[in-house]
Amino acid sequence: MKMANNLGLSSILFSLLFFSLIIETSLGARNLNENVLDWVKMDHRRFLRAVIHVSNLDHSIKVYTRGFGMKLLKRRNFPDRGYKDALVGFGPQNTHFLLELRQRDGLSNVFIGTEFGHFGIATQNVYKSVEQARANGAVVIHEPEKVNQTIFAFVQDHDGYKFKFIQTPSPLDPLSPIMLRVQNLDLSANFYSKALGMKLFKRQNNSKGEFILATLGYGTNQSKTTMLELEKRNNISRNDGRDGYSMLYISTDNVNKTAEAAKVVIKELGGNLIMEPVLVPTINVKMTGFSDPDGWRMIMVDNKDYRRGTL
Ligand SMILES: *[C@@H]1O[C@H](CO)[C@@H](O)[C@H](O)[C@H]1NC(C)=O
Ligand SMILES: *[C@@H]1O[C@H](CO)[C@@H](O)[C@H](O)[C@H]1NC(C)=O
Ligand SMILES: *[C@@H]1O[C@H](CO)[C@@H](O)[C@H](O)[C@H]1NC(C)=O
Ligand SMILES: *[C@@H]1O[C@H](CO)[C@@H](O)[C@H](O)[C@H]1NC(C)=O
Ligand SMILES: *[C@@H]1O[C@H](CO)[C@@H](O)[C@H](O)[C@H]1NC(C)=O
Repeated sequence: MKMANNLGLSSILFSLLFFSLIIETSLGARNLNENVLDWVKMDHRRFLRAVIHVSNLDHSIKVYTRGFGMKLLKRRNFPDRGYKDALVGFGPQNTHFLLELRQRDGLSNVFIGTEFGHFGIATQNVYKSVEQARANGAVVIHEPEKVNQTIFAFVQDHDGYKFKFIQTPSPLDPLSPIMLRVQNLDLSANFYSKALGMKLFKRQNNSKGEFILATLGYGTNQSKTTMLELEKRNNISRNDGRDGYSMLYISTDNVNKTAEAAKVVIKELGGNLIMEPVLVPTINVKMTGFSDPDGWRMIMVDNKDYRRGTL
């Protein structure tokens, strides 16, 4: 009887202790998660560059500079990493979103696939831009069209990358948006808002009322910042062998906290951590990387390190 009581008491005590431990750790974890997700919204982030593979670097540089009006900022050779690259864009590295064009050694093909959409280029005159692009080797796949106050056209380079020229009455960021296709737009919009701290600027439904296009980005003024456009596509194939569009670099004040937040969101919404926070010694840059639920890759780069220009 006594023994049973003792046993009963100790097992109650034990389970109480056990319970409070569970409660404490889950509360602790919860607070930590909420703090780090709040921090993401205060972090200083911006789109730094998109990395795309090209089949012929010289040819791409010619099309992007003479054809599209970008500047060649840097050209580099990395025999040890197996590629050479060029940085192009409409302004300096420390203020502008850029494209990093990479030509891999010994690979003369790129396969873009169907899930990468396009890059947007703002212009004062779509007709002129289209002629300049055409004269420098790009193919016009959608002649200029006026819809309300906006005039747009689509061109394609020799690798098949699509660019949308956009002319609007109000100014736009020169290289924007980056358009990618995703399977589940609600899920993706949630992921980009929580893990990446982006703001949902605009959502568009089709006539059936389905959410089909999300415009996300940093900052408060859509005309002053690069935008990410996510388009819903039901039949998206994640493993089609695409190797063209590679990844997006985004800046952060703290790669450790960024990875911590990403892990929390990945557990909830999907995606993968692809690179634990690391200081890459050869360039002295801290970074971490993860992919979204559709496999689109993001490399998060320390703000101060990026400004040194070694990446
Ligand atoms: C064009 O403007 C009209 C009237 O303001 C609007 O109803 C329509 O949705 C606009 N079209 C597009 C494609 O934005
Ligand atoms: C778009 O569709 C969602 C449901 O799919 C609905 O909640 C929302 O109100 C719609 N928005 C517009 C502008 O039609
Ligand atoms: C956004 O920036 C543009 C360009 O500087 C400016 O013309 C526009 O008024 C701004 N919009 C808002 C809502 O602040
Ligand atoms: C996927 O859907 C798009 C339209 O949403 C269509 O243009 C494309 O051909 C489809 N691809 C496949 C492989 O069915
Ligand atoms: C990030 O984590 C690494 C390894 O744990 C540590 O050495 C470094 O000091 C941390 N950096 C920051 C900014 O917390």
